[in-house]
This record gives sequence, C-alpha cells and structure tokens, in this order.
Amino acid sequence: MAMRIAVAISGRGSNLEALLRALQPDAPATIVVVISDRAEAAGLAHARTHGIPARVLPSPEDAGAWLEALRQHNVNLLVLAGYLKLVPAAVVAAYRGRIINTHPSLLPAFGGQGMYGERVHEAVLASGARETGVTIHLVDEAYDRGPVLAQSRVPVLNGDTARSLAARVLEAEHRLLPAAVLAAAAAGHPVPFELGPAPGSRLPASGC
Ligand code: GRF
Repeated sequence: MAMRIAVAISGRGSNLEALLRALQPDAPATIVVVISDRAEAAGLAHARTHGIPARVLPSPEDAGAWLEALRQHNVNLLVLAGYLKLVPAAVVAAYRGRIINTHPSLLPAFGGQGMYGERVHEAVLASGARETGVTIHLVDEAYDRGPVLAQSRVPVLNGDTARSLAARVLEAEHRLLPAAVLAAAAAGHPVPFELGPAPGSRLPASGC
C-alpha cells in the first residue's frame, strides 16, 4: 500500500509541485492532503488542480486541528515543504520520526527561527561561504533542528545575488525532497539516503 503523505506549505508551493510531479499514480507514496496556515498560500492551487483535499488551519498552533487532519487522512508521513511556522509539540510527539522538513541551506548553518526565504541566501552571501545547499531533516520541537537525512551541495558563484543563489538551491531542493519521500516510502519511514548525480551533471574527472 502506498505511503500516505500530508504536505504542509505556507506560500508558493514549488516543492509541493515537485513532489506531485515525482509521485506518479504508480508511485509508492501518494499525497492525500495539503495543509496550510495561510488561506492565501499560492501553492494551495496545486492541491486543487490535482483534486487533493486542502486544509487551512485557522489556528496553526492548535495541535488538535493538525491531529484531526492527519488522522482523518490516515497520514503516515508529514512533509514540511516551505511551511514557516513551528509544528505544535504534541503533533511532533504523536508523529515523531515521521515528519520531515526541507531547508535551503546546509544545516546547522543558516537555520533557525527567522531564517527563511531570501534571508537565508543573503546570510550565505554575507558570510562569504563558497558553498551552500539543501538539507532534509527529521523534525523535532525546534526550528531546523533534528537529525539530518540528506544534504545536497550547491556552489556559490561569483556575482551571485540572493535571487540567483535561491534559484540554484531551489533546483537542488526539487530533486532532493522527492528523493527523500521515495526513500521513506521504500523503507516505511524516513531514512538517511544518498542522492545520485543530477541528470546531465558530469562526474569529476579522476587521475589528474
Ligand atoms: C523552500 O526553499 C523551502 O525550503 C523554504 O522556503 C522555500 C519554499 O518554497 N523553507 P516553495 O513554497 O516550496 O516554492
């Protein structure tokens, strides 16, 4: 039986879209509900287009509403894909080890409360780091903490702006997050995994 996924979003929903693209009808995982703290989240349109129930939580700090939605849809895995608030502690406790988050940096660097959107990439550029990336991790009671399951590295290039860097990181995120869900579906729960090289990318030359 396919793993039943809830995806939580707060905004644009491009990671939700990437998941929907990756999870074709014969996939071992299926998105059964999309949850948002914001009725105006643009990404809710993807749920409507695919006929997936969307649940807007008027009080996202209310654990009862989360648990009711997750249980009503028999959810096995909750994926935070651009969800910007803390998931209530009682939900984390009830679904411990079954909630994952994607974050657009190499955690623990550039994570934590207030580190979202372009702020992350601005901080990376200000630090002078030559590399950033994406982290998929298990969710615990704090922002962007919890065991790392996978990371994908992305170079910072000369002349990058927060916007150009964000676009490069997002591309990597759109590969890593679906891979995390497929790895979880194969194992029955979220697991550490390695992502193969991106299609079209060259392996480094050896021997010179
Ligand atoms: C993603 O980079 C996610 O990691 C971060 O916010 C962005 C959301 O993008 N927390 P989208 O809503 O999936 O397009």
